[in-house]
Amino acid sequence: MPIYFDNAATSWPKPPAVRAALDEYFSDAGGNPGRSGHQMSIAAARLVENSREALAQMFNAEDPSRIVFTHNATHALNLVIYGLVRPGDHVVTTSMEHNSVMRPLRHLETTGVYVTIVPCRPDGTLDVSRLNDAIRPGTRLVVTTHGSNVVGTLMPIEAIAALARDRNINYLVDASQTAGAISIDVQKTGIDLMAFSGHKGLVGPTGTGGLYIRDGVMLSPLLRGGTGSDSAHETQPQFLPDMLESGTLNVAGIAGLGAGVRYLQEIGIEAVTEHGRKLVSKFVAGLHEIPGINVYGPTDVSKQCGVVSFNISDAVPSEVGLLLDEHFGIMARTGLHCAPAAHHTIGTFPAGTVRFSFSWFNTLAEIETSLEALGKIAGWACKNEVKTWMA
Ligand code: ALA
Repeated sequence: MPIYFDNAATSWPKPPAVRAALDEYFSDAGGNPGRSGHQMSIAAARLVENSREALAQMFNAEDPSRIVFTHNATHALNLVIYGLVRPGDHVVTTSMEHNSVMRPLRHLETTGVYVTIVPCRPDGTLDVSRLNDAIRPGTRLVVTTHGSNVVGTLMPIEAIAALARDRNINYLVDASQTAGAISIDVQKTGIDLMAFSGHKGLVGPTGTGGLYIRDGVMLSPLLRGGTGSDSAHETQPQFLPDMLESGTLNVAGIAGLGAGVRYLQEIGIEAVTEHGRKLVSKFVAGLHEIPGINVYGPTDVSKQCGVVSFNISDAVPSEVGLLLDEHFGIMARTGLHCAPAAHHTIGTFPAGTVRFSFSWFNTLAEIETSLEALGKIAGWACKNEVKTWMA
């Protein structure tokens, strides 16, 4: 049996209910939601709205219409960044962000937007007072990850939300690595906007994601087009979710995502988080016992989601990944994880790291097997049998 530790890229396996939901759409619904009055269109719309309701409930959104479906978290992040920020505005972010935040911001800089990147500590943690100091008149948006996709460090989103609220600035959270793995109450936390992937912690199919938008926050659409509503007008509807959902939705994927959310709700997110923490604790403790392994990120597991990065001596991370896959059937991601700034922060640029990321389906036995495999690879590295950066 392969061991899959690349859940931060996309989670695997998916619960049987997720696969059944896709099948249910293709067999029993099949229509285009909101586009026609016939029974298959209505059945498809029902699947989409059930998933929207499940997500709204999971994140405690004020109303299901505050959840907009997107293709992935990158799409949701772009929707906010381009839908809110205008030339002359200032945006504050951190040095732990993924390129799905960095690249739109770097592009907007070329159009007259000002960007401040607050440096985080080498373990990926943020000093909130530094973020506070970066805010100035004209700051339109603060955007931070919730959990780093490189080292799993959790950001203090409640504290950041409070200071953004005090200064009347919108706060966008990138919950790509935490949605479904850690409980998030958007109202209690005071988040204005939250982008999430559907295919990672929420255990849905690829091609799904979404955005929570607090009541009162207005975004311009990235796309304009058919919504199946207000069709007499050639201008975009001004109400959610239609305003931001032009074009036919990924109904099968969204139905699967809804099944994933319901599956997790039955387990309870607290139990999912607890399981993730057990895996991380055991793995990190085991890594520390292997000579030659450097572990990055926080030392307190309560400040970490299910993502762990490390290196073996000066072995090339991709070489370690290849050995894990080919000799031990263990799948992990290596390199820069689309987050070069985070690697500058933790001191692993340009080589990157080996990253293990966990899900509800991983077991403590798999962690033990992996630690044995890593012990062997570390031994080979000691004997110069693994390609190194020095080679
Ligand atoms: N952003 C995803 C990752 O970190 C794809 O692997």
